[in-house]
Amino acid sequence: MAKVKKKPVKITETILRDAHQSLIATRMSTEQMLPIIEKLDQVGYHSVECWGGATFDASLRFLHEDPWDRLRKLRDGFKHTKLQMLFRGQNILGYRPYADDVVEYFVQKSLANGIDIIRIFDCMNDLRNLQTAVRAANKEKGHAQVAMSYTLGEAYTLEYWTDLARRIEEMGADSICIKDMAGLLLPYQATELITALKETVKIPIQLHTHYTSGVASMTYLKAVEAGVDVIDTAMSPFALGTSQPATEVMVETFRGTPYDTGFDQNLLAEIADYFRPIRDEALESGLLNPTNMGVNIKTLLYQVPGGMLSNLTSQLKGQHAEDKFYDVLEEVPRVRKDLGEPPLVTPSSQIVGTQAVFNVVMGDRYKVVTKETKDVLSGKYGATVKPFNPEVQKKCIGDTEPITCRPADLLDDELEKLESEIAQYKEQDEDVLTYALFPQVAIDFFKYRQAQKTRVDETAADTDNGAYPV
Ligand code: CO
Repeated sequence: MAKVKKKPVKITETILRDAHQSLIATRMSTEQMLPIIEKLDQVGYHSVECWGGATFDASLRFLHEDPWDRLRKLRDGFKHTKLQMLFRGQNILGYRPYADDVVEYFVQKSLANGIDIIRIFDCMNDLRNLQTAVRAANKEKGHAQVAMSYTLGEAYTLEYWTDLARRIEEMGADSICIKDMAGLLLPYQATELITALKETVKIPIQLHTHYTSGVASMTYLKAVEAGVDVIDTAMSPFALGTSQPATEVMVETFRGTPYDTGFDQNLLAEIADYFRPIRDEALESGLLNPTNMGVNIKTLLYQVPGGMLSNLTSQLKGQHAEDKFYDVLEEVPRVRKDLGEPPLVTPSSQIVGTQAVFNVVMGDRYKVVTKETKDVLSGKYGATVKPFNPEVQKKCIGDTEPITCRPADLLDDELEKLESEIAQYKEQDEDVLTYALFPQVAIDFFKYRQAQKTRVDETAADTDNGAYPV
């Protein structure tokens, strides 16, 4: 009998980033992470995703933590494991496009503070929005992984994905990720997609999906059989639901096969024991909504990522229109079509979602149009795969001529101006980047940081200036 060649599947652990972003609104604190790092570091993961995405915003805004400080602490703790972050192309970790000098500096500082692998994506899959970040990562000798935002729709054929992959390889990426935010990739489609991609490109292929629609573990199984190199999983206490398939389950699935990870289940069990009380506490406090832990088959119908579902719920609550939830879910694909059928991932998911809420709540479509919707229809987020609905475009932006160039070509360098604006608060080089991304939140945080220091310096306990809730 011919010996089957071993090809252990590699694993990226997401518990320190996507898992808690998807299940508990990104509220895991550095303090909660640090005690378990030593064990996580022994598992043998391909990488641990632990930074970027919404963690930057959430740590500043809600946890009053410096995200850069978190990264340095994680780097100190992980001696053997590569650290990975999620990066929104020209939008960095924010919600608007930034000038190239900010993007380059952010990449440089992320790598300098400890990131090894940068997963870079664009919500439009417009590679022009990724090229500055990829070049910057290449220059700093970081691993530039380009993610294709996976979605369904008329335009998204197998040829679309293989062509995109070919262009990603040509632009200098070190690997490709299929980023399936909503868990739309079905098992047998995964076989087809991975097989086609492996025939097209030489660089490694990683698959990222969410359990939301309930098929994710099966999709991984078929993808691994078809030759995918790396899969993203989360330790069981923060797995399933809107998060990733469970690490332990995938490890056990491949045991004794050519794809065997070789991971120690006892070690994984100890790690799970650590995270379980954190999960239970989140359930008790209401931070973890049990509905996010089940299977929501509607995501397959509406193609709405997990995070977007909870955003829509809270937006509707704010408008006292909770009863309109399913109307909004039905409006989402219509708005998406009007806007050129982009994938739904940050920030396009927020843009489409918010516009859909307005369209439904106002009872008149595009009566209220957000600035972001106008920007999409003006080409400021890049090229979409399908044309815009011309009537909607006309209604929203009138006779304004849409742009067709790389959007960032129209942006002047920003760093110098930003530096001058925060001179009085600056304590480290990275502060200007924090400020660039979230100006108001950053200033509040800087004030809070100063107040904390003053408090320590004076050892007088009553110096709180009231600027920031502690
Ligand atoms: Co994700």
